[in-house]
Amino acid sequence: MPEKSGRPEFARIKSFTLRGSRLGDKYETLLAERGPEFIIDLPAGHDATAVAADARFDLVREFGRSGHLAIEIGPGSGEQLVSFAAAHPDWNVLALEAWHPGVARCVARAARENITNVRIIEADAAQALPILFGLEAAGKNAPEEIIAAGPRLNPAHPNAENPRADMLWTFFPDPWRKARHHKRRIVSPTFAGVAAGLLRQGGTWRMATDWDDYAWQMRDTVEASPYFDNPHAGNLQDPADPEPERGGYAPRWEGRIMTRFEERGIEAGRTIHDLEVIRNGQSS
Ligand SMILES: C[S@@+](CC[C@H](N)C(=O)[O-])C[C@H]1O[C@@H](n2cnc3c(N)ncnc32)[C@H](O)[C@@H]1O
Repeated sequence: MPEKSGRPEFARIKSFTLRGSRLGDKYETLLAERGPEFIIDLPAGHDATAVAADARFDLVREFGRSGHLAIEIGPGSGEQLVSFAAAHPDWNVLALEAWHPGVARCVARAARENITNVRIIEADAAQALPILFGLEAAGKNAPEEIIAAGPRLNPAHPNAENPRADMLWTFFPDPWRKARHHKRRIVSPTFAGVAAGLLRQGGTWRMATDWDDYAWQMRDTVEASPYFDNPHAGNLQDPADPEPERGGYAPRWEGRIMTRFEERGIEAGRTIHDLEVIRNGQSS
């Protein structure tokens, strides 16, 4: 079905796959019982991972309070999400996960910890976040249109009133290793403007990956973006980097815990790169 604006829906580039999306009975029961405490249900868009263009999202109402905000894209099983939220009860932590079993695992973990400061939206973050935060990029599919919209708000959209985040996390995003799939990587020039639109000035975008060439891509993306400053520019140079003098990597953030994905990368002998960049005052 065609989108209201931009290219037809089939042209939307997705940074995830939905394989293995069936849930066992145990998780279905848990989702039915505890899901409503954590999951924000929004009207669906043109497919199962899209939210409707006119979905109303009131962040302060959903959390029942204002406060520091962290947004996690792709929490997987929720290790980082729940451990941070439990350790920082004064923070609101919003996660977007497209993979249904991941959402169920996040709920299970949050329920086990008895926390109240996590909310989860089952959706494609790249499609949903511009709508949820009232960005001009909402509803656009063509990369050049998303890039042109940058972090700009659409002041006519009620969601534009939502507070901006203090932190945005993309930890161990799907690596899309084949060159022909690199366009599916979420950390890209297309997404950088949207990421900037979600953060307050001075807010931080943190990333980590165990795939070298994705680390170079992350560094290149954020250093080319007019909306971010890299306080670690030139640091932690890596001889494996095609531009070995360039560096630009951050030390491991003490707030980031070890997940199964990181463990697997380390076991396979891969290097972990962290990035930490700051939203500057630049608008598009
Ligand atoms: C490789 S896993 C990493 C999970 C977790 N961050 C960790 O470090 O263990 C990447 C996760 O991101 C999710 N994901 C990828 N693209 C997404 C998107 N556009 N919106 C929401 N979730 C996404 C995938 O479904 C998957 O669960």
